[in-house]
Amino acid sequence: MTGQPLPGFRDFFPPEHAALRGIFDAWREASRCGGFTEYEGPELESLELYTEKSGDEIVGQLYHFLDKGEREVALRPEMTPTLARMVASQHRNYRKPIKWFSIPRLFRYERPQKGRHREHYQWNCDIVGEKSPMAEAELIATLCLGLSLLGLSAEDVVVKVSDRSWWDSFLEKQGVGEKEKPTILRTLDRLEGATPEQRREKLGPLAGAVEKVWEGKMEDSTALGEVRRGVEALGYGSWCETDYRVVRGLAYYTGVVFEVHDRAGKLRAVAGGGRYDDLLKRLGGEDLPAVGFGMGDAVLAELLRDKKIEGAKVAGAEIFVVAEKPEQGMAMGLVGQLRRSGFSADFDPGAGKWGKQLEMAEAKGARWALLVGREVAEGKLGLKELATRKQSEIRWTKSADGKICLEPTPGEWAKVLS
Ligand code: HAM
Repeated sequence: MTGQPLPGFRDFFPPEHAALRGIFDAWREASRCGGFTEYEGPELESLELYTEKSGDEIVGQLYHFLDKGEREVALRPEMTPTLARMVASQHRNYRKPIKWFSIPRLFRYERPQKGRHREHYQWNCDIVGEKSPMAEAELIATLCLGLSLLGLSAEDVVVKVSDRSWWDSFLEKQGVGEKEKPTILRTLDRLEGATPEQRREKLGPLAGAVEKVWEGKMEDSTALGEVRRGVEALGYGSWCETDYRVVRGLAYYTGVVFEVHDRAGKLRAVAGGGRYDDLLKRLGGEDLPAVGFGMGDAVLAELLRDKKIEGAKVAGAEIFVVAEKPEQGMAMGLVGQLRRSGFSADFDPGAGKWGKQLEMAEAKGARWALLVGREVAEGKLGLKELATRKQSEIRWTKSADGKICLEPTPGEWAKVLS
């Protein structure tokens, strides 16, 4: 035993977990503001769901095995096939467009490196049943809102938008057949960071035409123009740029695609998505258009660290009830009641020395110490604000139904001690 998790897997100790929760909170809040509702699916799916729908790159990274019932199964490497499967089976029960979000933990056997792991959390927002490019605009605006809730701005990140159908007709014009297209699209997806010589080597006869695209001299396709106008109308125009070099590695995209990158270009994509109008039909469902994105927690956390944006902190209990052994019963009664009233309350189960308990309260980050001393028999408790060391007296009485009543109530403590 090494004490370490498997390579590429992460332990989240409380400080890291608090930061992760902060990211989830921003994702949930942006989803709520954008009108997306939450769903979840199984971590384990049939292997076939991915071999047929995701494309070679992800298939090569699958964690898959034969289960005890001899089924070929895989840990989910992405959420889109699960979403498509779920929607294909029940879409009649939902009014279109369907706007759903989820924060699944995903598994890919990748080479671990900065911002890349073998598991990650991914915020997914998808819109199903809407052909209009305003759906893409909605998604881009929602992801920008999520990033801005975390303290990032258009100066930190850029949403690069591109169009797979534009690439389709480009490749057709170059005489590339349907069968060769997926391989070429995958090559194009991996050209980031390549020198012009390397590009020539990888693309062969296509290199000359592709070089012009790389020089960035192309005009927006009709779909891209509309998406960008929609994003502008929703207030995020400055976050968005056309960049045809974005092709996306996944096989199912059919139209506009996009990726979020840090402006400095130091990290891998923070998020990626696009339109996948054929996937539901290919899963045996209705012919429903769909578009969505996934944003990973790991690259995002790297970016927040780079930008020195502090993550959410570990929050201990708000109230620490201090009492030595003889008063512990009363203290526990208070703790239970405070918790039932919605306050976070803690105490020392070992009922250590008074001073040690106060130290414990501070170390745990409590705001208040509620002091249950000998004077408790006279209906008196002490209240201490740990940061300011200000102290006050609290009166307690018992109501007819046995409830302990505090005067002033916890809601009034801040006022009393100000
Ligand atoms: P993807 O580009 O494969 O898209 O992943 C989206 C984001 O997830 C990436 O930009 C990256 O931030 C994060 N990510 C992916 N793999 C890893 C990894 N091994 N370690 C850490 N982070 C990672 C999809 O998965 C699509 N299904 C997104 C989508 C939703 N398209 C339509 N709807």
